[in-house]
Amino acid sequence: MRILSIQGSPRHAGNTASVLAWVEDELNQAGHTVEHVELCELELRPCLEDLSCQEVYDRPGCAINDDGHAIYDQMLAAEMIILASPLFCWSFTAQMKTLIDRLICMCKVFDLEAPVFLLQNKRFALVSTAAGPEEGNMDLIAETFDRFVEYTHAVPAGKLLIGHCTAPRALGPDIQKRARTFAQEITSPA
Ligand SMILES: Cc1cc2nc3c(=O)[nH]c(=O)nc-3n(C[C@H](O)[C@H](O)[C@H](O)COP(=O)(O)O)c2cc1C
Repeated sequence: MRILSIQGSPRHAGNTASVLAWVEDELNQAGHTVEHVELCELELRPCLEDLSCQEVYDRPGCAINDDGHAIYDQMLAAEMIILASPLFCWSFTAQMKTLIDRLICMCKVFDLEAPVFLLQNKRFALVSTAAGPEEGNMDLIAETFDRFVEYTHAVPAGKLLIGHCTAPRALGPDIQKRARTFAQEITSPA
């Protein structure tokens, strides 16, 4: 399977990147093709709501001239997309939220009679880490992810939510095992 893995923490070797590296390692070992993107290295400006993208049906058609176009192409070429983000104020990082907003250009919904969803049937997975607990803390990022997947007509492949993270070096073998099992689960036939 061709997989695009998008790391959305500004820390390139933080908790999220560490967990994601185990997921990617397992995917690579299983023979999948994994493309990794460090979102915070890219120039990605916020959606301007210019909506000219809604007048183009066969491609993103986004009017913002930045690295978003490279990510759109990578997403369209992938069968599965992993969104990885630490929990920032109960949600995605600003960088990942910016990308998610920009993906409105993949959903041509302004003509209600004939909507087009360019990410339809792509599998999406979520990886998130947080300092606090999973319960009553990571529920909003999980809910936002679920609604995003539903809205884009994509397919939910799974969510890996890891609470009580301190430093990357403190992520133990139990977390590594969860990450590897998660990689196997999200690529198993539906
Ligand atoms: C701006 C900011 C906001 C945060 N908000 C939350 C939060 O709402 N809940 C939580 O449990 N942890 C929160 N954290 C902690 C991070 O989610 C946690 O340390 C995470 O594992 C960092 O991942 P990283 O090393 O990949 O960046 C926040 C950290 C920062 C810097």
